[in-house]
Amino acid sequence: MHNIMNPAKPFLKWAGGKRQLLNEIDKNLPPKILKTKEIDLYIEPFVGGGALLFYLLSNYSIKKSVINDINPDLILSYNVIKLFPKDLIKKLEKIEKEFLPLEYEQRKKYFYNNLRIPYNKLEVDYTTPNTKTSIEKVALLIALNKTCFNGLFRQNSKGEFNVPFGRYINPRILDKDNILNVSNLLKNTEIFCGSYESIKIPKDTKAFVYFDPPYRPLTNAGFTKYSKEDFNDNDQKQLAKYFRELDKAKHYLMLSNSDTKDKFFDELYKGFNIQKVSAKRYINSNSNGRGNINELLIKNY
Ligand SMILES: C[S@@+](CC[C@H](N)C(=O)[O-])C[C@H]1O[C@@H](n2cnc3c(N)ncnc32)[C@H](O)[C@@H]1O
Repeated sequence: MHNIMNPAKPFLKWAGGKRQLLNEIDKNLPPKILKTKEIDLYIEPFVGGGALLFYLLSNYSIKKSVINDINPDLILSYNVIKLFPKDLIKKLEKIEKEFLPLEYEQRKKYFYNNLRIPYNKLEVDYTTPNTKTSIEKVALLIALNKTCFNGLFRQNSKGEFNVPFGRYINPRILDKDNILNVSNLLKNTEIFCGSYESIKIPKDTKAFVYFDPPYRPLTNAGFTKYSKEDFNDNDQKQLAKYFRELDKAKHYLMLSNSDTKDKFFDELYKGFNIQKVSAKRYINSNSNGRGNINELLIKNY
């Protein structure tokens, strides 16, 4: 099997990461893919941390993949890892060497003065990942993700990274092998930044498209904001329309979302195969949001 020797995993911890659901998703892949272990074209329009992307790239033979997300900093990271893994590794090595020997208070100072403030100040041209500044920005983003509270990426309305310092004893700022494996596995991946509907899905190849949009909150109190753009009920409805349109083109489609009490998605995706699966989630900051919750896997096959 292709690439099985060098499996990769997400290089960032991302809200809504699918690592706990991978087994369930695997069981629910299109039967033809399960049988042949081959995917001609894999498309992930809301890629986030890419847990499923890396799982599939590591375990299946994928001829081509296309990923997209609306968050420009996230997409810049994918581009830099794909194109300049060695430069990125050098930067992360330096940060790790400086950070790890420090005591708690000094680490905290380093987090704000050497990582968070410079990250927020650094302006990059998102259209050209091949600059020193882009590589620097991505190194800072990865280091922040590994050392901040809860290890997440969150921006305020001005687009600034605003997560406070976290208390990890031995954070793995640089995972060299994983960066090299990720870079290698992304060789046949096209990377786009924009809203999901801007992706061009070819008509001549049967694609497997996995949608993992921002989840509809279980309660209004726990609203999660992933980027400058919120994803509200209207967006969920638009996405369902898009899903129905794409279904006509005979691609294999799978979509995840939360299983809300009001049966919102049962209505929206009526006629498709709606499966309930159980997942552990630890990212909501209110303790009620922790524990096992039900999620939906919606398929057109
Ligand atoms: C639930 S997360 C994806 C989690 C991911 N599959 C993983 O395993 O880590 C949803 C993603 O959708 C992105 N997003 C929000 N609105 C979007 C839009 N209109 N088009 C594309 N991506 C969008 C967010 O930036 C976020 O990364």
